[in-house]
Amino acid sequence: MPDLLIDTDTGSDDAVALLLAALDPSVRISAVTTVAGNVPLPLATRNALISLERADAGAVPVHEGCGRPILRPLHTGQEVHGEDGMGDIGLPDPAAAPSGQHAVDAILDLARRRPGELTLVALGPLTNIAAALLRDRSLLTRFRHVVCMIGAPDMVGNISATAEFNAWADPEAAQIVAEAATPDRVTWVGWDVSRKDAVITPADQERLRGLGTPVAAFAHEINRKVAEWATTVTGLAGYDLPDPVAMAVALRPELVTDSEEAHVQVSLAPGTRGQTSPDRRGVADAPNLALVRRVDEDGFKALLMDALGRGGRS
Ligand code: BDR
Ligand code: CA
Repeated sequence: MPDLLIDTDTGSDDAVALLLAALDPSVRISAVTTVAGNVPLPLATRNALISLERADAGAVPVHEGCGRPILRPLHTGQEVHGEDGMGDIGLPDPAAAPSGQHAVDAILDLARRRPGELTLVALGPLTNIAAALLRDRSLLTRFRHVVCMIGAPDMVGNISATAEFNAWADPEAAQIVAEAATPDRVTWVGWDVSRKDAVITPADQERLRGLGTPVAAFAHEINRKVAEWATTVTGLAGYDLPDPVAMAVALRPELVTDSEEAHVQVSLAPGTRGQTSPDRRGVADAPNLALVRRVDEDGFKALLMDALGRGGRS
């Protein structure tokens, strides 16, 4: 049974990734940690708690983490995900509260206590993970696997011409993780994969609504603002779901249809901030990451519809 530690800057696609994991009876979520990114930290924590409650996930501890990137000021994605990160649909406050433990301490604790047991799924800027890594350089080896939603390996970006949001938001953190990574242990799922294989078209949205469950309605409503942005600003025929794709890769690695190993460095330079260009020449440094390039679109959507068809709470 996959046992997860999920690090998230919960906005609307993170929320769907949380639902995907929480509604899967074959998955355990040992903890959720939150980080500033899509929204300021208190909202990320609020949204994570709301999502877990909607999935009826039981007592999953939520640990609040870093409120800003390591060196950069916080730049949120509220123009895409809404002021509250969840499409501004007026969600009521969650009943639960975060634990008193800092996310970085929780990550270090869990990884030390349960070596080789947990899969870390990182869905936001890598600030918490990098801060933990600086305190324990062997951190990544303590996980069964690490899957991050990050990067734009073809250099088509969403926050700049060439950079993806999570890499751009805290490039120093991303580079700290990249430097400590090995391709057998750490997988990066770029933004491009969701644009190719996880576009929720109007027909998919219809299917989603037709499921008739409280969680399907919730997933649909919180992503309406993103859908509007994706179609009007980026010209996509629907909206894409980057974090749920990364979650699907963690839960069902067999959905990956194309991947490569490459050496990736994250650019810290002003003009190319957050760029994650793989060096595929094989003549310089050894690969440090496994990069997912494509997933099985039908398999991904079936997993999503299955999970969201399972119910949850309104
Ligand atoms: C990533 O940035 C955020 O907008 C999403 O939640 C996802 O983690 C995509 O670039
Ligand atoms: Ca995210």
